[in-house]
Amino acid sequence: MPTPPDTSKTLKLERYNTYLRKIHTTKLVNASSKLLFPATLLVALLLILFFTITYPPLSDNPHHRLHRHSLLSTSLFSVGGGAAWEKQVRRSSTPRRPNGFSVLVTGAAGFVGSHCSVALKKRGDGVLGLDNFNSYYDPSLKRARQNLLKKHQVFIVEGDLNDAPLLRKLFYVVPFTHVLHLAAQAGVRYAMQNPQSYISSNIAGFVNLLEIAKAANPQPAIVWASSSSVYGLNTENPFSEIDRTDKPASLYAATKKAGEEIAHTYNHIYGLSLTGLRFFTVYGPWGRPDMAYFFFTKDILQGKSIEIYKTHDQKEVARDFTYIDDVVKGCLGAVDTAEKSTGSGGEKKGKAQLRVYNLGNTSPVPVGRLVSILEGLLKTKAKKHVITMPRNGDVPFTHANVTLAHTDFGYKPTTDLPTGLSKFVKWYVGYYGIQPRATKETQPTNESG
Ligand SMILES: NC(=O)c1ccc[n+]([C@@H]2O[C@H](COP(=O)([O-])OP(=O)(O)OC[C@H]3O[C@@H](n4cnc5c(N)ncnc54)[C@H](O)[C@@H]3O)[C@@H](O)[C@H]2O)c1
Repeated sequence: MPTPPDTSKTLKLERYNTYLRKIHTTKLVNASSKLLFPATLLVALLLILFFTITYPPLSDNPHHRLHRHSLLSTSLFSVGGGAAWEKQVRRSSTPRRPNGFSVLVTGAAGFVGSHCSVALKKRGDGVLGLDNFNSYYDPSLKRARQNLLKKHQVFIVEGDLNDAPLLRKLFYVVPFTHVLHLAAQAGVRYAMQNPQSYISSNIAGFVNLLEIAKAANPQPAIVWASSSSVYGLNTENPFSEIDRTDKPASLYAATKKAGEEIAHTYNHIYGLSLTGLRFFTVYGPWGRPDMAYFFFTKDILQGKSIEIYKTHDQKEVARDFTYIDDVVKGCLGAVDTAEKSTGSGGEKKGKAQLRVYNLGNTSPVPVGRLVSILEGLLKTKAKKHVITMPRNGDVPFTHANVTLAHTDFGYKPTTDLPTGLSKFVKWYVGYYGIQPRATKETQPTNESG
């Protein structure tokens, strides 16, 4: 007969096994809970390190910090460049003088923008450029200005005024004190060929910039380029800021006039401090190839004939040519006297400054006289072709009254046309590598037209 199993022994063995399992589980739980704490700490530290490197605090202003956090939700991390890009943005816009400004200069690769950026940087302000490097005129000239700015430690972000996420990101990275808004579709005649570019940059782009600026915390003060062209067919002489500006002669002028009205709205609703500057035919080194003094120089040197306009009543067309250094002084004067915006985060907190100034030279010169000065400087006779002004948006004359700018920030133009043109010609022949003795035959080497 088989012996019955010893049940008491089996029971003892099972109890012993259960006891051993319990001990192992407890040991495991104890060991893993000991590891869990340092592991969590390590992950947290790594995360903090990552965010500190990528997005270090820029301002002690609690409002700015709040604004930064609210912006995180709009996935700003993916906009612009990476950490190195942000470092460049921050380095470029950090002031180097006590109480210096942090200025966003739009159109920094442009003629006026490049000069203003250098001047601001030289006196110790932080400057960040923004430009889309469009091909309205030879982009290689814009690239050359960009290289010049690089030597002065000014970084230009390549982007469009209409790129809201990019602008938002820039304001997120830098608490700009000022915006010097010079980016625009310039030129009167081109508006007949490409009207939409004026609407896109001068109206939609301006509104986009104002939308971002009004929501920023702190709101920057904005100084922006209007134009003498807003006077249009005005017959008062000289042009004063109180004169009527409701007869624009070109779409360009109409968009600048619209800009002045839009500025009024953003000042009224959101408390943005806004200063519009009406420039009068700015000229000088690093100038714009689409402007008469520039292409006259090129055509005279190439032996091509040039068209000189006379008015419909057979009078000479005249312009209040203003030298770039004088305009730069005016721009900086406007920036220095711009009061802070009063709003924050899109809400107006009080009345804010709203201004408009003429920046001209106060002495109009007939275009025929401009040509004879150039002939003297280039030692070359121009082939002149005098024609009646076509209806292309040009106005017969411009003449600035600058009393207001003089009173408010000491604006006083000091460069006459022969002096300014001689500086321009010196730059032109140097930039395009033209030998002084061979000017008649030599063509500009790096100009696309
Ligand atoms: N130069 C003058 O005689 C004169 C006269 C009156 C008014 N203004 C105004 O002064 C400002 C500066 O003029 P400028 O002579 O230096 O012209 P510019 O064409 O040399 O400079 C404008 C710059 O803005 C950039 N830009 C244009 N649209 C842009 C956009 N949507 N986004 C980003 N960048 C853009 C261009 O690439 C260019 O580099 C302009 O607003 C112009 O309308 C100039």
